[in-house]
Amino acid sequence: MTLEETYQMMRPKLDKLMPDGEIRYKAELAYEINQLKKERNAIILGHNYMEPALFHSIPDFVGDSLALSRKAAETDQDIIVFCGVEFMAETAKILSPDKTVLLPAEKAGCSLAESITAEDVRQLKERFPGVPVVTYVNTYADVKAECDICCTSGNAVKVVESLQSDVIIFLPDEYLAKNVARETGKKIIIPSRTGETEPQDYQMIGWHGKCEVHEKFTVEDIEQVRKQFPDVLILAHPECSPEVVEASDFSASTTAMMNYVQETNAPHYLLLTECSMGDNIMAANPDKEMLRLCSVRCPHMNQITLEDTLAALQKTQYVIEVPEEIRVKAARSVQRMIEIG
Ligand code: 13P
Ligand code: SF4
Repeated sequence: MTLEETYQMMRPKLDKLMPDGEIRYKAELAYEINQLKKERNAIILGHNYMEPALFHSIPDFVGDSLALSRKAAETDQDIIVFCGVEFMAETAKILSPDKTVLLPAEKAGCSLAESITAEDVRQLKERFPGVPVVTYVNTYADVKAECDICCTSGNAVKVVESLQSDVIIFLPDEYLAKNVARETGKKIIIPSRTGETEPQDYQMIGWHGKCEVHEKFTVEDIEQVRKQFPDVLILAHPECSPEVVEASDFSASTTAMMNYVQETNAPHYLLLTECSMGDNIMAANPDKEMLRLCSVRCPHMNQITLEDTLAALQKTQYVIEVPEEIRVKAARSVQRMIEIG
């Protein structure tokens, strides 16, 4: 694709979001990245939360965490450039240890991944011996290595239901755990940090982690919007509180939310999730009315830019490494999840 063709491809997707000069500048970057990608035999994976110009220009594949980890496992390119956050790039390295995995930012964290350590998991296993541990993929490799199986927002219920156990530990997202508990009809406790005696009657044990983006949405936000737009269809990511999820019309992974907008025909849509995704859906569905009330951008996803992705390919940075003994154990948990689907 020539530079002009790159610009022509990007313009209709971006012209409602940014001035033409900015589209031209971003098209130049995208063109250079796509050239270099071919030269270096690289694949670019992009999470649904990438900013619209990046999302619509350079990834060979876009999707939610589950789809991107599947893709990372099956690629035969030499380099995987992960346009997402660190735990996602680490998951790619866990599944494809022989590839060079690059994250375009030196640090792109996640409040959920930062909320728990491998030592926390070991202590929980001592406190609740023999109880299987499910860990959300939004964790670092050493935490994944301590658990029995991973899950994403796309398969959390399925993973929990697959375990033949009266009680399970589900880490580290308190809200996702509570949403899964609600959907599966299980009673959940969030254990105290001090090790005080827990109630006896529970089937799920959660943790105190929260997504700093999704915890901001409230039921009051929903009520306000419904007052103004009574026919609005509200979609909430399951990292939102159970009250917000219950007050919404649909809750699922980022890709499932995108598909839902594509497949339905509501007069207005409101997304309670990272706001770049609303822009990406709007660009893909110009006929749909997305309420642009979102102001919550994930500061970690926001670290990944076209400029830094170009630098990543030019300088082979920032290389993701996972110590082999941790990788092998973490791979077991991620593979089990992938097998479940
Ligand atoms: P998905 O797995 O739904 O893409 O979500 C990942 C994430 O980090 C949401 O905040
Ligand atoms: Fe983590 Fe929340 Fe950002 Fe997703 S949106 S990467 S869960 S901080």
